[in-house]
Amino acid sequence: MSASRAIPSPATHESGDSIVRYNLSERVHHLLATVGYLYCLATGLAFWSPYLFWLAVIVGGGATARFWHPWFGLLFVIATVWMLRLWGSDMRITEADEAWKKAMPHYVRNEDARVPAAGRFNYGQKIFFWLMFWGAILLLLSGLGLWFVESIPFSLHWLRLLAVFVHVTAAFATIAGFMIHVYMGVIMVPGGTNAIVRGGVSRAWARVHHRLWYEQVTKGPTPPAGK
Ligand code: HEM
Repeated sequence: MSASRAIPSPATHESGDSIVRYNLSERVHHLLATVGYLYCLATGLAFWSPYLFWLAVIVGGGATARFWHPWFGLLFVIATVWMLRLWGSDMRITEADEAWKKAMPHYVRNEDARVPAAGRFNYGQKIFFWLMFWGAILLLLSGLGLWFVESIPFSLHWLRLLAVFVHVTAAFATIAGFMIHVYMGVIMVPGGTNAIVRGGVSRAWARVHHRLWYEQVTKGPTPPAGK
């Protein structure tokens, strides 16, 4: 299915110059995923290196961090899986994404005129979503192994080592994606932060960054630039 033929998300509608990009449920789940992830990031790094243990001290000490880390991890996983329910259809890779993928160097160099029109989410945002989704699943599975490590019989002790390896690898993969996500969302594309916090974007923002989505939600051709 091409992005231009995708069914408009029910989350999106217009109000004056503003277009709703994220409804309340989407913003709340994004916030819950962020709270869960940031807590796990800080405490996980504290467990990983003694040089970073001060991060655990900030949240109440090693024992407190160890107790809450898996619970905040569950919050992150549940919110991320819920995102699949909210955004799954918008995150499907389409034919339009292939052209966008080829033009990614132009996007990185901010050469907007040479970047093909994107749907509600561009190819980079979709890859980030799937990285976080599968990362969350791997972190959950390996995390359960570490949470209930005494339940793993000694004859299967290799499972403990596997759980540590998978947990650390998945954590670093998501950290790389997360750093790019925050940089892109907050610094590279001004207006995105307002969208994820308050919900709305201007028509101009939607037209410039997600033209196929803009055309879906306004159900009209793109007016000339400057209007
Ligand atoms: C401090 C932490 C975070 C900040 C500042 C942040 C910022 C943003 C911003 C500005 C947007 C809107 C982008 C747009 O519509 O153009 C967004 C969307 C999104 N965020 Fe986050 N985010 C954070 C944490 C997370 C976490 C932990 C996840 C984990 C699943 C996540 C997943 C997403 C997804 C899937 C979207 C929609 C697609 C995209 O824009 O990449 N975010 N975020």
